[in-house]
Amino acid sequence: MDANEPGLGTNRPASERLEPPDSFVAQANVADPAVYAAFEENWPGAWERAGDLLEWDRPHERVLGAEDGFRWFQGGRLNACYNCVDRHLADRKNQVALAWEGRNGESRTYTYLELYHEVNEFAAALRELGVEEGDVVTMYMPMIPELPVAMLSCARIGAVHSVVYAGFAADALATRMNAADSAYLLTCDGYYRRGDAVLLKNKADTAAVTVDGDVTSVVVDRLDGYDCSLGADEHDYDELVCAHARERVDPVRRRASDDLFIIYTSGTTGTPKKVTHTTGGYLSYVAWTARAVLDIRPEDTYWCSADVGWITGHSYIVYGPLALGTTTVMYEGAPDHPEKTRIWEIIERNAVDIFYTAPTAIRAFMKWGAEYPADYDLSSLRLLGTVGEPINPRAWEWYHEHVGRGECPVVDTWWQTETGGILVSTLPAVSDMKPGTAGPPLPGISVSVVDDRGGIEAREGGYLVVDRPWPGMPQELCEGRRWANRGDDRSPADPTAWTYPTEDGAFVDKDGYVTILGRVDDVINVSGHRFGTMEIESAIVDVEGVAEAAVVSGDHDVHGKAIYAYVSPEDGHERQDALREGIVAAVKESIGPIARPEAIVFTPEMPKTRSGKIMRRLLADIANGEDLGDLSALRNPEVVGEIESTVEER
Ligand code: PRX
Repeated sequence: MDANEPGLGTNRPASERLEPPDSFVAQANVADPAVYAAFEENWPGAWERAGDLLEWDRPHERVLGAEDGFRWFQGGRLNACYNCVDRHLADRKNQVALAWEGRNGESRTYTYLELYHEVNEFAAALRELGVEEGDVVTMYMPMIPELPVAMLSCARIGAVHSVVYAGFAADALATRMNAADSAYLLTCDGYYRRGDAVLLKNKADTAAVTVDGDVTSVVVDRLDGYDCSLGADEHDYDELVCAHARERVDPVRRRASDDLFIIYTSGTTGTPKKVTHTTGGYLSYVAWTARAVLDIRPEDTYWCSADVGWITGHSYIVYGPLALGTTTVMYEGAPDHPEKTRIWEIIERNAVDIFYTAPTAIRAFMKWGAEYPADYDLSSLRLLGTVGEPINPRAWEWYHEHVGRGECPVVDTWWQTETGGILVSTLPAVSDMKPGTAGPPLPGISVSVVDDRGGIEAREGGYLVVDRPWPGMPQELCEGRRWANRGDDRSPADPTAWTYPTEDGAFVDKDGYVTILGRVDDVINVSGHRFGTMEIESAIVDVEGVAEAAVVSGDHDVHGKAIYAYVSPEDGHERQDALREGIVAAVKESIGPIARPEAIVFTPEMPKTRSGKIMRRLLADIANGEDLGDLSALRNPEVVGEIESTVEER
């Protein structure tokens, strides 16, 4: 692979290695290096360890069935809500399950018993509204406890939730509801963002106009003093829960391979990519990785600062930690509102043991200064984690030193919406850490780095593929797959039998550690959030006066990557200010403010190859101020200088 391709070649890690401290190793959940060999010698059977973390209504017959698609824990039956709530009542009903930190110092806690009651009550309410097993309930909710409660209520009755990030626009909500054929919506009147009220119900109402079919809604009253009138088939969350007070709903026994939830992410087309996670495989996998990588124990207070609207929140705020019976912290708002001390205050007040956040947040903390964490007692911290984007060694070291006192191991966890849980990371008590490198694949996981013909390319950098199935894989990768689908008798352990292309570039060092270099497809990862360039381009070309648009990513100090939109206006639409405003508004309206381009660069023409394709790679190089090299493949090289000078002037 050419190291100049977008996303490759910039994040070479430091070669320094750090050993995990003895004090950490002595108490860790998984500290025996033999775990890797145990999985290799008995694969896929060793995955029973993950299944054994759950309580099953019926045990599986086979760890991995593979005749007609992959079936993890085939024959097994279980309920995800029972596993995250009910089964903990015997030992820790009065332990806090969910500690919510609202904006303005508000807080709320739910013990496992309280969670059990509210989940049952809302499950009864959902049933009364007509929700049946297999129905899709969409949730368009901010970071308030009713969201995890509702997710678990769905799981209890075998309904499938589809959480749509609250920052998404009405259009994005409608597209996802239609795609999932969802007739139920949970939302709320609004929420606060940096002190301002965002009226979420208004956005949901706008979406409802373009949703096919009738929608039954439940609305949580979140805003103080804001009276939101409810229409026909709209129900107040509190009233429903009160009306079903003390009711019990038996958890529905689901097949291990039944859907637990849907989540939409960005792919390379203009439409969102559907990812469906399973009940048994997914839940076992997130419980196992939360235990082995994040070292979570029931007595811990664990905080992942992600939003529940993304996969990180599903797997490592809700399902993984609750399956293990721990106390999971969830926070509303922003890290610098009302003050830049917010994160450290929450850690101190809750005596957080494990903190899991994104590199983009760490880079912002760095910019604000080490004096902020230094002012707080962070001595409760035992382990730190990062997720979502590559972490540069400097940010890794800052996190390790200023947040972890140089004593907490840091796990750099690589995974994706599609993988359900972490696939590549050090095990914090087993492996040495190398800042900037995620680590080896987890036990039982196999990845390789290939060139564009599928040949192994490990050291030089290439395309990262996962070459063995894993329990957290989504339905979309299970269906219609067979081991022996090439007419030969490959055994399931044969790594050449099947692969999942991750669309990330990576290289592997001599110790087998994987360094992730970034996306190699048309997906941009900004602050750990995924956007398809096509989604953004189609919003932009819909603006009157835009002839063509090309969206690429440029490097950004804090956010990792930034969105650059190159736009050529139609004749007669050269008024850039008006066009710029129209473009920003269109992106906000069709996707949401988070997809707003960092830069909009106007050019009379796009640089094109002789066959008429826009040369996006060249546009990315211009955004990054890189040497452009040979331009002979271009039909119109004369536009390049003009675009470069426009970018430089910014
Ligand atoms: O490019 C990789 C990057 O995030 C992408 C997946 O994004 P998403 O599906 O939104 O899931 C984010 C949360 C898991 C990957 O293709 N990515 C994720 N974790 C890392 C990472 N890049 C480098 N290092 C990581 N630890």
